[in-house]
Amino acid sequence: MPYYSDELIEEVRLANDIVNVISDYVRLQKKGSTHFGLCPFHNEKTPSFSVSQGKQMYYCFGCGAGGNVITFLMQYENYTFQEALQALAQRAGIELPRQEMSVRARQEADRRTRILEVNKVAAKYFYAQLRMEQGQNGMSYFEKRGLSMETLKKFGLGYANKFSDDLYQYLRKQGYEDELLKDSGLVTIDERRGGRDKFWNRVMFPIMDVNNRVIGFGGRVMGEGEPKYLNSPETMIFDKSRNLYGLNFARSSRKHYILLCEGYMDVIALHQAGFDNAVASLGTAFTAGHANLLKRYAKEVYCTFDSDGAGIKAALRAIPLLKEAGISAKIVKMKPYKDPDEFIKAEGADNYQKRIDEAQNSFLFEAEVLEQNYNLGDPEGKTAFFNEIARKILEFEEELERNNYIEAVARKYQIGFENLRKLVVHQGTRAGLTRENRQLKSGISEKKKREDGMKRSQKLMLTWLIEEPDLFPKISPYLGPEDFTEDLYRQAAEIVFSQYREGKLNPAGIISRFTEEEQQREIAALFNARLKEVTTTAEKEKALRETVIRLKENSIQYRSKHLEPTDMEGLQKLIADKKAMEALKTQGIILLNKDKI
Ligand code: UTP
Ligand code: MN
Repeated sequence: MPYYSDELIEEVRLANDIVNVISDYVRLQKKGSTHFGLCPFHNEKTPSFSVSQGKQMYYCFGCGAGGNVITFLMQYENYTFQEALQALAQRAGIELPRQEMSVRARQEADRRTRILEVNKVAAKYFYAQLRMEQGQNGMSYFEKRGLSMETLKKFGLGYANKFSDDLYQYLRKQGYEDELLKDSGLVTIDERRGGRDKFWNRVMFPIMDVNNRVIGFGGRVMGEGEPKYLNSPETMIFDKSRNLYGLNFARSSRKHYILLCEGYMDVIALHQAGFDNAVASLGTAFTAGHANLLKRYAKEVYCTFDSDGAGIKAALRAIPLLKEAGISAKIVKMKPYKDPDEFIKAEGADNYQKRIDEAQNSFLFEAEVLEQNYNLGDPEGKTAFFNEIARKILEFEEELERNNYIEAVARKYQIGFENLRKLVVHQGTRAGLTRENRQLKSGISEKKKREDGMKRSQKLMLTWLIEEPDLFPKISPYLGPEDFTEDLYRQAAEIVFSQYREGKLNPAGIISRFTEEEQQREIAALFNARLKEVTTTAEKEKALRETVIRLKENSIQYRSKHLEPTDMEGLQKLIADKKAMEALKTQGIILLNKDKI
């Protein structure tokens, strides 16, 4: 929910011309009514990033990034909606009112701010310690590991010295109270012994969020010792499943993929070697939350995990999570070295790049791991293995994709394409015989397909209405915002319909009514979609009619399912809607304004 009124948001937006603002970041060239440049959100050589002064929107035809001037700052600077608005207000010299929050919310926000402050002070303290006499141990440890001064600085690396309460004492002197220090996770308070530091005699790795704020620490023993790494506990500001080490740097890498590693040192070694797109999870397993976070920055993730059993397990775990988030995964082999850090040390950046170029498709990697469980020299083992692979291939929904994998597996394991294809078909029918399987497999995908189709129709309808406002009077007897069952689209439809009624359709203004970047991107796409499938008037009329009918029938179905037995008004509306639909279906009602086309 926006904290500021819609009017104020509009005022700030209108005071910041989008071409002016984006020109600070991207070199733009005017072509006709539109400015073009190289997209800052993906790697490209020819400009497909467009900025329209008229619409006050940007859109990339390459990667689909798009929005208004507020979205741009959110995407580029990784600001939240509020932060972007504040930056733009400042740019235009507009004073924003202090936000009104509940007492509780304000207290929580204050607490968060103060914990961030404590972390920052501690990071500076560790950083300074490393460079002092007492930090020599730490410094020589980092040197031994081949880190340059520049790298130490970039990652803010530090040192917690041998005293077990010096940080505590220091923070107390700065005026921070026990309760706060306890909440920061940096200190434990013992009733008898008083405050103790969580970290001592360790080299320190501050963990930053995407906005470069220190949210926690990892500390490593210098040499042998248990545990090797100690990490800050989760706190109000430190959520391990929503942050990744190195993402603050990797997010502005212009590479189209992310390198996902296991360790802090791997990330650091990779960045030092020029791979500025490396990240790692924070001493915990990779989660769905991480995958969703990464999705904002890249469509492809290269897993560059340790070559040992744990690394393989980590990859097998990460692959489905990445896939689920719509990210395609590849596996970079580190053998005969343990991890990227050791690989780079032994072979250098060029050879590491080669490994990236040779990265393995995640399915073939999974197959290779599976293979270990079977004796392929034995006919029975071999059959069992191929049956298992065939079952896995069945998980791909598209036939084309299935065939591509059949082909790849056939080539790799030297089995005939047709033979393997038959096996896949056979496994498919077998799976169909057991009822549970059928429900599970086809059930999910059929339902999902229907939902996707419905989403597309709603999106198409909205794009139409925005691009051709003349359609409103023709469509509105049949459709209203309430017929858009997709939450986001219904919200957009409500704004579009009311803007139309007030005679001021304003696409860029609609976008900033949504505060999530994902939502803004999706809404922006509505205004930039091209209706290229339909060209002739007759085709258009047909497509429009079908879309209206689909939306309405879906909405009627939804409402009859959820109708309260006592809701007479709802029932009457439902009957009237059904009648209107029948008329549209059977009578030759023309929706398109013919003389316009
Ligand atoms: P590794 O044991 O692979 O360490 O742990 P590494 O990154 O190669 O470290 P170096 O090269 O020996 O210094 C991978 C990651 O697992 C977490 C840390 O985040 C580490 O970077 N970890 C490991 C812990 O949190 N605690 C531990 O005791 C060990
Ligand atoms: Mn290592």
